[in-house]
Amino acid sequence: MTNTYSEEIKLIAKPGEIPYAKGLEGIPIGESTKSFVDGLGGRLVYHGHSIEELCEKSSYEEVFYLLLYDRLPKESELKDLGRLMRSYREIPSELYDLIAKQAPRYGVHPMSVMRTAVSALAAYDETTEDDTPSEQCRQSIRIVSKIATIAAAIARARLGKPMLSPRAELSHAGNFYYMLTGSAPDDFYAELMDVLLILHADHECNASTFAAVTVRSTLSDLYSAVVAGICALKGPLHGGANEEVMRMLQAIGSLDNVERFLEDAMSQKLRIHGFGHRVYKIMDPRADILRRQAREVTRRAGTEHWLETAERIEKVMAEKYGQRGIWPNVDFFSGVVMASMGIESPMFTPIFAVGRSAGWTAHALEQWVDNRIFRPRFIYIGPEEEPYTPIRERK
Ligand code: CMC
Repeated sequence: MTNTYSEEIKLIAKPGEIPYAKGLEGIPIGESTKSFVDGLGGRLVYHGHSIEELCEKSSYEEVFYLLLYDRLPKESELKDLGRLMRSYREIPSELYDLIAKQAPRYGVHPMSVMRTAVSALAAYDETTEDDTPSEQCRQSIRIVSKIATIAAAIARARLGKPMLSPRAELSHAGNFYYMLTGSAPDDFYAELMDVLLILHADHECNASTFAAVTVRSTLSDLYSAVVAGICALKGPLHGGANEEVMRMLQAIGSLDNVERFLEDAMSQKLRIHGFGHRVYKIMDPRADILRRQAREVTRRAGTEHWLETAERIEKVMAEKYGQRGIWPNVDFFSGVVMASMGIESPMFTPIFAVGRSAGWTAHALEQWVDNRIFRPRFIYIGPEEEPYTPIRERK
């Protein structure tokens, strides 16, 4: 039996009466085999493999395979994926032109350029509208390979440096480091970049992955889903927090200012970027791994003062707000690590996106397999009926 308009509106328009989860807190939106966040235990696993073990023993390519196909690859499968990824690294010359024009413009954020470039990329893939599973996997591999080239080209163009073509003999992380900095990495920096990308590869139902699967649930294409992910990641409450952390470290300046800065900020109810999480109520395991990485890279770069300041912030926050469940998240130490690698802070979030492209595409593919369009509801709190006043009579 259908409700009348008036009955229907009463069902959905009871402000304050119908309980709902603001920000969808704790609401499962579907089933997934990709990753699991244990917020009370402080654990993150990708398809059953702990993030610590993957960072120590694996590579980004292997993690990408794991997320895409739900199992670790055999040697030959990993080689095949690596070969395919290398063959897809290059981007069309028109994209280099677009990046060269947009990235150096005053006030343009690199995430905006990345969003436009990935969107444009769809026009150069003849299979964009092809939904067959094998083509979707290939599109995913193309996107993950090329987004690194896009990010690196943006980083170089911003600084007025020549954009570099990918090098086939390097790993995904090693080549990304080379395209960003202009030098092939030694083992330490290649592994560090690999760890950064692995740590950012997936994180269950975060805002950008939710955006990506929502777009995919309409049966829109994979490129559109990734663009949606980039758009959501850009915000400072999500991926943009890593850039804000560096800004905070610079504003604090010296160790002596830490306590006063935090007290001022907390008393004004400001957010301390790099702290807090919807799911983790203790230390984010990714932050722990990055803190350990930060020790060596800051020593090499002579930027130990950033780590010292960050650790003092962590200590004061733990003493004062740890009990409220406000602990460092992935973005807190990643800025110190990336800045010590010589990367300028506006590029931190695009680097996060390079890693996360694996998770976005893997979840978008998973969504497609057992799809139902996302179509939740708002609780309507507007008027039930309003007269239409002619324009000249409106006050
Ligand atoms: N600084 C100060 N207070 C905080 C913070 C913070 N970073 N995070 C949470 N709180 C407080 C908040 O004020 C609120 O207090 P009260 O109950 O007294 O009003 C309480 O903790 C709960 O906060 P919430 O906003 O309801 O939590 P949420 O789950 O909606 O938001 C968050 C999660 C990550 C957006 C939030 O913790 C935050 O804004 N953090 C700073 C930005 C940041 O670091 N984002 C990166 C997130 S992790 C990686 C990623 O996704 O990119």
